[in-house]
Amino acid sequence: MVTGGAGFLGSHLCDRLVEQGRDVVCVDNLFTGSKANIRHLLGSPRFEFLRHDVTFPLYVEVARIFNLACPASPVHYQHDPVQTTKTSVHGAINMLGLAKRVRARILQASTSEVYGDPSVHPQPEEYWGNVNPIGVRSCYDEGKRCAETLFFDYFRQDRVDIKVMRIFNTYGPRMHPHDGRVVSNFIVQALRGDDLTVFGDGQQSRSFCYVDDMIRGMLLMMESPSGVTGPINFGNPAEFTMLELAEKVLEKIGGRSKIVFKPLPSDDPRQRQPNIAKARETLGWEPAVTLDDGLEPTIAYFRELLNGGAGFGLRPMEGQPSMRAKRATE
Ligand SMILES: NC(=O)c1ccc[n+]([C@@H]2O[C@H](COP(=O)([O-])OP(=O)(O)OC[C@H]3O[C@@H](n4cnc5c(N)ncnc54)[C@H](O)[C@@H]3O)[C@@H](O)[C@H]2O)c1
Repeated sequence: MVTGGAGFLGSHLCDRLVEQGRDVVCVDNLFTGSKANIRHLLGSPRFEFLRHDVTFPLYVEVARIFNLACPASPVHYQHDPVQTTKTSVHGAINMLGLAKRVRARILQASTSEVYGDPSVHPQPEEYWGNVNPIGVRSCYDEGKRCAETLFFDYFRQDRVDIKVMRIFNTYGPRMHPHDGRVVSNFIVQALRGDDLTVFGDGQQSRSFCYVDDMIRGMLLMMESPSGVTGPINFGNPAEFTMLELAEKVLEKIGGRSKIVFKPLPSDDPRQRQPNIAKARETLGWEPAVTLDDGLEPTIAYFRELLNGGAGFGLRPMEGQPSMRAKRATE
């Protein structure tokens, strides 16, 4: 079972699982996910889609639960922060309860945001983080932290077979076009011939992991030996400045766009980079796709989307016109 299976990462995971010959139940309430992401799977006898909100209990017989349900970008998770916390916390309780009941192994898609505004770079798993409990991002950060707590309490108290992965910035085809993340922002701006907006001097750095690498890591983590609970960081440690990323996107897309600079928002971290030593040692995992290689299919996806091909429509989410204006870093 993949919760959040119609989303960006979830739909790629469903693809891989169906390819592996697994029977897949995709559970999603379609808040940020889309049927377009899974349409090609709907005809497969191995694939079932269940429209369901994980904040409510669910009873199905499954052997593995990948718990990905949660809006991941600030524009989306800040839209209804109470629902975001409920999705992480009630969702974790419901899925862990199910895992306990049917003795399923369960994997949590946690996040680098559990480190908050870190004072340690890059962040090892032992770092406890520096999170504001009352800010506008707290619904996501603290919700994910509480979900991790629940995973480890179900592990200690009920011996539920858990896996916790902390995901750093991931990009690729099927990212939501209006989620405000820098990779999709730059690509969409360049494809439309708009100027690319770089905040500050563009020297702040980020690391970007291509979706195929992340899904490979997720599958390795799920099938790791029982004692391997995590948390384990997953991401691509290669660092790029925002300016370098903008230049790469422009170089690949061409056109009339220019780079324009805007003031840096106060909550914008200077650097975010994963320490993936544990993933390397424990699972032999490391990313293989370079930013140059990963940008190609991502640009191709957004190009098709702009031409109306992929069925998402390049409009702001309906009824939420202000979302595009908000800034995002994850
Ligand atoms: N993409 C990244 O860079 C990244 C980084 C860190 C962590 N993550 C985590 O990975 C997971 C997937 O992220 P994504 O980038 O694919 O985001 P996404 O928004 O594309 O996918 C999340 C999916 O969960 C669904 N969902 C949301 N609330 C739900 C609910 N209450 N019940 C059922 N379904 C619900 C959405 O409709 C969507 O399909 C999330 O848990 C996210 O926190 C992602």
